[in-house]
Amino acid sequence: MRIDILTALPRLLDSWFGDSILQRAQQKGLVEVHIHDLRKWSNDKHKRIDDYAFGGGAGMVLQIEPIHLAISELKKERSYDEVIYMSPDGALLDQPMANELSLKGNLIILCGHYKGVDERVREHLVTREVSIGNYVLSGGEIPAAVLCDAIIRLLPGVLNDETSALSDSFQDGLVAPPAYSRPAEFNGWKIPDVLLSGHQANIDAWRHQQAVERTRQRRPELLEGSPELPFGDG
Ligand code: ADE
Repeated sequence: MRIDILTALPRLLDSWFGDSILQRAQQKGLVEVHIHDLRKWSNDKHKRIDDYAFGGGAGMVLQIEPIHLAISELKKERSYDEVIYMSPDGALLDQPMANELSLKGNLIILCGHYKGVDERVREHLVTREVSIGNYVLSGGEIPAAVLCDAIIRLLPGVLNDETSALSDSFQDGLVAPPAYSRPAEFNGWKIPDVLLSGHQANIDAWRHQQAVERTRQRRPELLEGSPELPFGDG
């Protein structure tokens, strides 16, 4: 998979992708992430990529020209499955969307800034708009980083334990069951006996029952529309 990120603030993203799981995924050749400074495609002598909004109003708008040039240049090299614009009014990112995007080959992600982007970018160049939540951040860089993290960790080989992404919260429509590690007793606080039983079927059943119960208590909306989910069974 290849992800090209177009941003006015590339340095914000460099450290994110230069560390931890995301860096290792790139070193292993499982994903290529390219961060591009939109100013590279500015024809302005001061390398500006934003301007005042027609009709007035506070805030600058990212101009269409550098974005169009950037996307055209990238598309000359390879085809892209999606051109994603990070925006608070996009479709809300959730696990099924991350799963779907993790199966794509090449993605372009455009980070918005200032007062937004020239609407013609959204009308003609963007194929999908994605929000990471119902709140407004000052730019699309953190949302782009969140989206990339959600996608990249799903790629086969990125996580050491191949099954661990599959047992994440939300992957089966349930939040994750509780996890414990050594010591089995700390400060008098004991872990559930079943986890020491060595009986894998019982452990799996306990985990599932915990996940269902937690989902019902904490995120009941995840169970709505899933009548087939076993409410409260063992
Ligand atoms: N840009 C600003 N806020 C955002 C959000 N919540 N999601 C995606 N992009 C954004």
